[in-house]
Amino acid sequence: MFKTGSPVKGKDFIDRKKDLPIFRAYLNNNQHVMIKAPRRFGKTSLVKKLFEHEKSFKYIYVDLRRVTNLTMLANQILEKAYACAGIDRFMEQFKRSITELLKNIQSIKIDDIGEITLKHLEGGVKDEREYFLHSLDVVEKISLKKNLNIKFVFDEFQDILRISDDFMLEQIRSVIQHHEAVRYVFLGSIESIMTKLFSSKSSPFFHFAKIINLEGLEVDELYEYAKETFLNHNIEFDESVLKMLQFLQGHPDYCAQVLQALYHEGIIKGFKKIDYDICLNALTQTLLENRAYLEELISKTKQKKHHFEVLHSIANGYAVNLSPSSLYNIHVSLEEMGLIKNIERGKYIINDIFLEVLLQQKDETLLLGKRIDLSKFSKTM
Ligand SMILES: Nc1ncnc2c1ncn2[C@@H]1O[C@H](COP(=O)(O)OP(=O)(O)O)[C@@H](O)[C@H]1O
Ligand SMILES: [Mg+2]
Repeated sequence: MFKTGSPVKGKDFIDRKKDLPIFRAYLNNNQHVMIKAPRRFGKTSLVKKLFEHEKSFKYIYVDLRRVTNLTMLANQILEKAYACAGIDRFMEQFKRSITELLKNIQSIKIDDIGEITLKHLEGGVKDEREYFLHSLDVVEKISLKKNLNIKFVFDEFQDILRISDDFMLEQIRSVIQHHEAVRYVFLGSIESIMTKLFSSKSSPFFHFAKIINLEGLEVDELYEYAKETFLNHNIEFDESVLKMLQFLQGHPDYCAQVLQALYHEGIIKGFKKIDYDICLNALTQTLLENRAYLEELISKTKQKKHHFEVLHSIANGYAVNLSPSSLYNIHVSLEEMGLIKNIERGKYIINDIFLEVLLQQKDETLLLGKRIDLSKFSKTM
């Protein structure tokens, strides 16, 4: 089956034969790792896949997109760190009885760092920066004292700049560079920011982590997986399926969604042969199902001067009439929104294939009739 909608695990995971071994090797070599790729390219799935059955280390996972401030983040980290050391529901225990909790903390023998946590918490957190940095030290201490080899995952790491600032990055770096018993994994969807953070000489994270550039799934692997699933269910198909996966450039999320649509087609409509028309239909339906998300991306560009114009020109391959400097600024800004990527000097591509297709629609009436002009796909046939 093809699962969609949330990060995939277990047998739903289509093997990343190239990236998975590299990622595993970095971790085994005790290195910090940074993984960058546009949204929905399978970063979270990759990490969960690797960590799911791992016995040789524990991991702590936090998603920065889901927190609004440093205190909230630190609370999550502490909760998970103390759970690794055998103290469950730390915050709840703190509210119930501080003396009980203190006894528990003393019993797990992690020096006096537990008492420091309590000091931060008593009377409410006063310095959220200190409190957050302390939470990272707690993870290190617990990993060290309990011999846990903890891997710490910051998902959507660039969002640290949304809840804090550049100085925070320096502070994080100066704390974690002393950590020996924890290794860090940073995931990020805004490639230009991640690149700046980890590859620019002036950044505190310069050369801190091994970098993995996650691309779409290998079309051949994806096709093998699809073929096997269809054959197992006696669903026939022709070469359009492969063409379709190529057209989607192996985009993990869209490929999974389209294959799922085809699978249902095959099962529900009685094992009819999957051909070009059925693929075209599945592509159209899937694009329309993602339209609200895509329109939201588009509407964000319309709130900023000339952004939509420039994005549209990239999708349709024409030049806009703007000064080089404003064009440059808009490109940077669109990159920071995660929408485009610079592939060579002055040349940009749209990260999301469906966004590109939507931007290429010339006939509004088609869209109103909930139809999509997919002539670009037809041309591949
Ligand atoms: N290796 C994979 N095998 C199968 N489906 C995948 C794989 N990676 C990603 N997907 C699909 O893409 C979707 C988005 O993946 P996710 O890991 O959440 O991306 P990201 O963290 O990069 O935003 C998943 O819900 C799943 O449907
Ligand atoms: Mg993710």
